Amino acid sequence: MRILLTGASGQLAKDLYPLLASAGHSVFGFDSKELDITDGEKVFSEVERISPECIVNSAAYTKVDLAEKERDRAFAVNRDGAANLAEAAKKAGALMVHISTDFVFDGGKAAPYREEDRANPLCVYGESKLAGETEIIKRLPEHYIIRTSWLYGSWGPNFVKTILRLARERDSMRVVYDQAGSPTWTVDLASAIVSVIGSNANGDRNYGIYHYSNEGVASWYDFAEDIVEGARHSGLPVKCGTIEPILTLEYPTPARRPVYSVFDKKKIKKTFGIRIPHWRISLLKMLNELSELNGGGYA
Ligand SMILES: NC(=O)c1ccc[n+]([C@@H]2O[C@H](COP(=O)([O-])OP(=O)(O)OC[C@H]3O[C@@H](n4cnc5c(N)ncnc54)[C@H](OP(=O)(O)O)[C@@H]3O)[C@@H](O)[C@H]2O)c1
Repeated sequence: MRILLTGASGQLAKDLYPLLASAGHSVFGFDSKELDITDGEKVFSEVERISPECIVNSAAYTKVDLAEKERDRAFAVNRDGAANLAEAAKKAGALMVHISTDFVFDGGKAAPYREEDRANPLCVYGESKLAGETEIIKRLPEHYIIRTSWLYGSWGPNFVKTILRLARERDSMRVVYDQAGSPTWTVDLASAIVSVIGSNANGDRNYGIYHYSNEGVASWYDFAEDIVEGARHSGLPVKCGTIEPILTLEYPTPARRPVYSVFDKKKIKKTFGIRIPHWRISLLKMLNELSELNGGGYA
């Protein structure tokens, strides 16, 4: 397929681009300077020029806390940018793959979130991402909206890279233990996206919303413990001796986050025959990849 990929310098897109290319697709990647998705005219002219069969939107305003102050900017990118792409896809007869977030939920459910559960975002970022989903659904039936959570990869910045840095620099750290979710490696999500597009290319449709994260559940504290342990096992410099579990209340942030955002992933697994690795296995793979990328050390 001819695929137009937005947000090409983001952490997900950097892993997705080579996977799509090695699956045989012709990929046209655009970073934010080459294609600002809030610029409707530019979006239309580039889509017309490339004539893609599929648009993958990996561009987003992702600064969750800053979004509380920059509401207009968050909505311009996450809602209006998504709408521009859906409109252009419709005109070009292309399908669209769009990435969304667990932050569309309020975390009040006591069981894994299913696709049809009621969304009720607690922060501006979550509201703007939900508004983006709504715009796409309104405009383009040929969509796959894939919600994901706690994303990290070698091309960060992200939680894993922050914890690795803190572990190197500090004797101790404090990490929140009363928020539960599922860490997701960008490489695993990218390969799920390749499967979804591949299945479409083979004639299966199944458009709609899907949930994807790695298997397993963790608190940020559990996740940090495993990151530091992984670094230690690899013989890398770890100064940090203690990780103290703390409550969200003790680490206030401008944006409210869901305390529980685990996904039910049956739909994506069943529809596309996707096998999902446990987050612990994927974390170790990512740490190895990062170590190799940096010549035996973590950047
Ligand atoms: N990170 C997470 O924990 C997480 C969790 C759940 C869902 N998601 C979703 O997953 C997707 C991928 O996230 P990610 O972690 O890869 O994010 P990322 O690393 O922040 O990448 C987003 C990319 O979008 C680009 N961008 C921002 N505004 C743009 C605009 N107006 N036009 C074109 N490009 C623009 C950014 O470019 P600049 O840097 O040049 O601005 C950046 O390269 C997003 O939809 C995000 O909402 C992420």
